[in-house]
Amino acid sequence: MRDTLGRSINYLRISVTDLCNMRCRYCMPEEGISKKEQNEILSLEEIFQVVKAASELGVNKVRITGGEPLVRKDLLKLVEDIASLGTIKDLALTTNGTLLKKYARGLKEAGLNRVNISLDTLNEAKYKEITRGGQLTSVIEGLEEAKKVGLLPLKINVVLIGGFNDGEIRDFVQLTMNEPIDVRFIELMPIGQAAGWAKTNFISNYTVKEQIIELISIYTGDRSSPAKYYKLPNGKGKVGLINPISSHFCKYCNRMRLTADGRLKPCLHSNQEVDVKLALRSGLRDLKDIMEQAILAKPAQHRLNDQDNEPIHRDMFRIGG
Ligand code: GTP
Ligand code: 5AD
Ligand code: SF4
Repeated sequence: MRDTLGRSINYLRISVTDLCNMRCRYCMPEEGISKKEQNEILSLEEIFQVVKAASELGVNKVRITGGEPLVRKDLLKLVEDIASLGTIKDLALTTNGTLLKKYARGLKEAGLNRVNISLDTLNEAKYKEITRGGQLTSVIEGLEEAKKVGLLPLKINVVLIGGFNDGEIRDFVQLTMNEPIDVRFIELMPIGQAAGWAKTNFISNYTVKEQIIELISIYTGDRSSPAKYYKLPNGKGKVGLINPISSHFCKYCNRMRLTADGRLKPCLHSNQEVDVKLALRSGLRDLKDIMEQAILAKPAQHRLNDQDNEPIHRDMFRIGG
């Protein structure tokens, strides 16, 4: 289905939980968050009903996110149900990777196509620091298992943090040399826990191009992707730069988001939400109507750069990026 600007909305991102087994300093408060009552969040069956309605309106790409999606019980069942629709040609998951060793094979067998793994450092001590106690080896093992079972193409998302991982850019880029792994650098957004961070922590993605001058620009043909892609000469994988704030891929945006507590969000960076949980539980409105309402409410672009823009209420872990 198309929105009022003619953008075709074919990509649904589903946050299946706010919870996470990590506490990344820029994302989660140190004390974590309180668990919602079971009836506050959508059941997996309800999520599936929304996906079905969305697919009837033309959605053919679905991404499961969190928090950390793999902490949601019985997630494999949802993957299986979505895959069995036969209409979703790209079924993916964004994860911190720590539980992938356990779940990768089951996910693949359930019908998942691929995973994007969030990993901000390749140094064990720094990983422990940024995640407040996480084990880098668990992610590496998860990544290896994902490759082994064929959850490909595999992408690594690195949030660039000045003074923390800007010295590791070459190491990350090097991962794309010998294997078909894509590494994407994401500019840290001054939202949530990172809102009050020092200016020096926010560095432009341009740093990557400055440091790795041999990168060659490539055109992937997908204008709705948030990443601009490059590669090393003879590199097997790609290097992506995601500028969530400055870059205006809004013009080509193809996304709709579903939150764990049952709201459709037409734009990541706007407070506009449509209550789909009420519709599901009251049975008073057709799900496709609700979905259409949300698509038609999609703003032309985010207003994060405007001085008078109201603060965004949802933290990243409540919408999954
Ligand atoms: P692919 O389908 O593999 O290209 O993944 P993706 O980039 O759609 O999903 P992923 O979860 O890996 O997103 C990576 C990051 O891109 C997120 O953490 C956000 O920082 C950013 N991002 C994703 N969607 C949007 C969006 O709609 N608007 C903006 N401004 N940034 C986004
Ligand atoms: N800026 C950029 N990316 C962020 N993420 C979480 N908080 C921020 C932020 N302030 C990313 C995580 C993960 C996804 C859920 O969102 O690294 O890739
Ligand atoms: Fe969890 Fe990802 Fe947030 Fe880290 S960035 S706390 S892994 S949701």
